[in-house]
Amino acid sequence: MSDQVKLAVIGCGSIAGSHLKGYQKLQNKGYDRFRIAAVCDISAENTAEYATDVEAKLGYRPDQYGSIEETLAAGNLDAADICLPHAYHHTAAIPCLESGLDVMVEKPVGITAKAGEMIIEAARKNGRILATAEQVRRDIGARTMHWAINEAGLIGEPRFFGFDVKTWMDLDLDSYRWRWRYSKLLSGGGMIFDAGAHFADMMLHLFGEIDEVAATLVTFDTTILEMPDLGPRRRDVEDYWVVTLRFTSGLLGSWSYSRAARAYKIHSSYVWGEKGAAKDLQTWMHPFQLGGDIELEDGTEVLYDELRRQYLDQLSDEERERTFPYGITEGMPIECWDFVEAVADRRAPEIDGEAGQRAKVVCLALYESDHAGGAPVKVADVANGTVSAYQDEINEYWGM
Ligand SMILES: NC(=O)c1ccc[n+]([C@@H]2O[C@H](COP(=O)([O-])OP(=O)(O)OC[C@H]3O[C@@H](n4cnc5c(N)ncnc54)[C@H](O)[C@@H]3O)[C@@H](O)[C@H]2O)c1
Repeated sequence: MSDQVKLAVIGCGSIAGSHLKGYQKLQNKGYDRFRIAAVCDISAENTAEYATDVEAKLGYRPDQYGSIEETLAAGNLDAADICLPHAYHHTAAIPCLESGLDVMVEKPVGITAKAGEMIIEAARKNGRILATAEQVRRDIGARTMHWAINEAGLIGEPRFFGFDVKTWMDLDLDSYRWRWRYSKLLSGGGMIFDAGAHFADMMLHLFGEIDEVAATLVTFDTTILEMPDLGPRRRDVEDYWVVTLRFTSGLLGSWSYSRAARAYKIHSSYVWGEKGAAKDLQTWMHPFQLGGDIELEDGTEVLYDELRRQYLDQLSDEERERTFPYGITEGMPIECWDFVEAVADRRAPEIDGEAGQRAKVVCLALYESDHAGGAPVKVADVANGTVSAYQDEINEYWGM
């Protein structure tokens, strides 16, 4: 490898644009250990637009390719940043890993438990680094609340949580980015699987392993859409759910969400412990990304700005530079920096492929529970493949 990590961005859609802003932020701070050498998308228009955006933001134009095979054949790359729809995570990551590239793959890592295992196995067999592009828990808000709850123990032992969001979102159903998300075969599931991967990752990060889940999912909107690669199909992913999660520690959580709620909207997200409670300030599925307030049993409130101050004060200089490189406090550039550093220094990334797989499997366990009529499902059984009835159709379709 030369002085710079030569990256390919695979998939030039919406999240690739956010990654690019992350890389730009790093470059603007003087970080120069990477170069986006190649960009790849099946849409020539998206590839060209993205190459132009790279040129505008980073000052050089990357090579452009229309397929993974062409990208790899060029042979001048060190690593790939995979930003594809869920069905193509494994079909892109595995050839990259087998060609000797290190890989960062967007959450959820692979469309099923099996797809994730295949990616992890390819990394292991080829001695490559596999990172999960998971930004939420790296944001200063989430890092602060992890410190407040887990290290400072401000609310005491966490006992239960309730995350409840009901909202309405007008989505552009003609756009590619929403159409693939409405087919189970392309997306693996609805928002439980998509943004829910952030939710599951943060829950595991804050509260430890999840033993068992139970879920009821509903699909209200079943309009027919022209799905990429599949043709016209009914929307078949959930738009409302009610879920319980039982942690190994004994903590019990409830999670309910809908983006199909007309008129009144609510968001109410709290964690209660033996000495107080934490209120999540975000309104979506990225727990504590915007921080949280804490109220103690005597009624004292410690607001997020004060919690953040306390958190930053107790970090050593070395911890501060590692956690917020170049003083950056947003998760996405930190995620990009961490991947480049891992590749350049041959060290483990902060959030590896296994961590991404663990979070994703929690989401899949919710689908498996719903598929079994709402019966409780052990997360470990989904992780080891004993329970897979919901995923069998997807695995079969993609020949896994
Ligand atoms: N971290 C986050 O907050 C966050 C937010 C949004 C999306 N995501 C994740 O990012 C990934 C991509 O989502 P998105 O919203 O960017 O999707 P998108 O639809 O906006 O972009 C996907 C791109 O991939 C291209 N593509 C499809 N198949 C391809 C193939 N075989 N080879 C090359 N290119 C191909 C499409 O043309 C499109 O440009 C998903 O895993 C999603 O869950 C993460």
